[in-house]
This record gives sequence, C-alpha cells and structure tokens, in this order.
Amino acid sequence: MKLSADLENAFNDQITLEIASSTVYRQLAVELALADLPGMAAWLRRQADEELVHMNKFIDHLVARGNHPKIGATPAPEVTVDSPLDAFEVALQHEQKVSESIRDLVRKAEKEGDLDSRPLLNFFLAEQVEEEDTVGEIVGRVKLTGDDGPGLLRLDAELGARPVRPTEPASNA
Ligand code: FEO
Repeated sequence: MKLSADLENAFNDQITLEIASSTVYRQLAVELALADLPGMAAWLRRQADEELVHMNKFIDHLVARGNHPKIGATPAPEVTVDSPLDAFEVALQHEQKVSESIRDLVRKAEKEGDLDSRPLLNFFLAEQVEEEDTVGEIVGRVKLTGDDGPGLLRLDAELGARPVRPTEPASNA
C-alpha cells in the first residue's frame, strides 16, 4: 500500500538527511586524514559509506510501496575541526539530530496508522541507539587519552581496524 503524500514527503526528507549525514562524515574523515590520524579517518569514511546504505534502505522502501523517492538538496558540510575530539563530537551531535528525525518519522507513521513502514522504522530506531552509543563511546575514549599521544595513536589504530560491513544486496531501484 502506498504511503500518503505527507509520509512520502517525510520519508524523502529522511533520504536527504541520510545523504547529508554521509557528506558530514566524509568531510570529518578528510579533516582527520589531514591531522595524520588515518585510522580515525578510515572509521569515519566507512561511516560515510554506511549512511548511503541507510539512504538506500529508505529509497528501496518507497519504491516497494509504489511511492517516488526524491533526493533533496543537501547543505555543504560546514564542520570546524581542530582536534579528533571535535570531529567525534560533531558526529555525535549529528547522530542525535538524525535520531530525533527518525523519532518524528515514527510519530508521523503511527499517527497515520501506517503499519507497513514499522519494520523499517524499528530497524532505524535500534540503529540510532547503536550509532549514538558507538560514537559517544569514541568521544569518551578520545577524552580519556587527554595529552597522551601514544594513547591516541593506539586508539587511531584500533578504529582503523573497523571491519567493512558487507555491502547491501543489489536492488532494482
Ligand atoms: Fe543514518 Fe548515522 O544515521
């Protein structure tokens, strides 16, 4: 069953926010690559890729429902990064914004009684808890390193070892 026009718009806004998230992470990765922290840069770059997977999940849902996914304009990722802590704090604030957007989407879908979007939205509610937890933990660990350069380099190496998640299955969209 098709999503209502209002819900279609709300899902399209989420599609745009996911691609905007990808650009934020990609820019943060650039900043940390320039700061000689290749492991953290790699972690952020993989997260940028994962945001595109998120975008595609929403696109696939709209296509499956007979709706029209549309990617909107995204702002340039204006990030100011003077330290690795800055980078992960920006990431955490961004995830908090995405979480609130997903909650809004859930509220709208519930209000309309749109049962068919529930599995997808439940996935994203859980995903956001995980993403905020993961990034929040990195913020805490970067803080713990303080002025300990070797400690920061160990954390950099650990984050660089983040496994690449398998790519999503092919879609006909
Ligand atoms: Fe797609 Fe990190 O939220």
